[in-house]
Amino acid sequence: MREKLEQIKAEALGQIEESGALEKLNEIRIRYLGKKGELTQVLKGMKDVAPQDRPGVGQMVNEARAVIEDKLEETRKRLAARAREEQLKNEEIDVTLPARKMAMGHSHPCTVALEEVERIFIGMGYEVVEGPEVEYDYYNFQALNIPKGHPARDEQDTFYINDSIVLRSQTSPVQVRIMEKQKPPIRIIAPGRVFRSDEVDATHSPCFHQVEGLVIDKKVTFADLKGTLDQFAKELFGEETRVKFRPHHFPFTEPSAEVDVSCFKCGGKGCRFCKGSGWIEILGCGMVHPNVLKMSGIDPEEYSGFAFGMGLERIALLKYEIDDMRLLYENDERFLKQF
Ligand code: DAH
Repeated sequence: MREKLEQIKAEALGQIEESGALEKLNEIRIRYLGKKGELTQVLKGMKDVAPQDRPGVGQMVNEARAVIEDKLEETRKRLAARAREEQLKNEEIDVTLPARKMAMGHSHPCTVALEEVERIFIGMGYEVVEGPEVEYDYYNFQALNIPKGHPARDEQDTFYINDSIVLRSQTSPVQVRIMEKQKPPIRIIAPGRVFRSDEVDATHSPCFHQVEGLVIDKKVTFADLKGTLDQFAKELFGEETRVKFRPHHFPFTEPSAEVDVSCFKCGGKGCRFCKGSGWIEILGCGMVHPNVLKMSGIDPEEYSGFAFGMGLERIALLKYEIDDMRLLYENDERFLKQF
């Protein structure tokens, strides 16, 4: 029995010595000390040992176990230290390498333009609100005094989800949603995405952005509209900017106008930028039609108001003198970096 134990011990120690890797050590531990390991087998053979010899054999087995465990532990420590050293050597840090640069992005020109528009109107006491991009036909057309059969409702221009739901073709429906739920005085702008069935070219996209404005209160007049947009244009394009209101037609305003600003490139003399006219069109506006007020639950005898709507991309193109709208959507960093 003693010889058998000595042999097991010597074998185990020899294998540990040669192991060379941490995983190997574990295998050896199981082989010798595990539940079905060789030392355990010896203990199981105790029944064949004479009773008076059993304590002696037990002690010998325990001693052998202790020696093997010590050797395992010592070897484990040595191998772990060596592995760590090797790892550190491989991961050596070269402190002389130049630092990695953090690439910082910045806002898209449309976002910059929107924030500028918002800043100006917030400064005049407006609140910024939003409405849904998938909209009821009712809000996008009906409640804006655009009756069935109106050319704007044609499927050629508007994306229909079904008979009563569209992708909004303008931000004007937000006017109605706000008037339905808020009592005057109302003073809001509503920026957002709009959709039209247009081919992509230098000035068109099936998806673009508008900023809607709406003011409703007692005794609001066209003079208030003019003063507001005059101030807006001066803040956006420069103090020397002049505005011109051209009569126009929109179903939801009466009277309606389109607004031009004097060309900030040539000051109005006429140049390539304003195509020689000295003026640049920037938005549509007007006094909210009494029908629209009524349909939204506001008494046109008591209240009046004005509304306006502008294309955000157009503002960005003008402000940054970009000549093709497609550049705003392509996400080419060489282009975007310039702003
Ligand atoms: N919704 C119009 C469009 O998409 C723009 C517009 C014109 C908005 C006049 C208005 C307005 O609020 O009063 O062409």
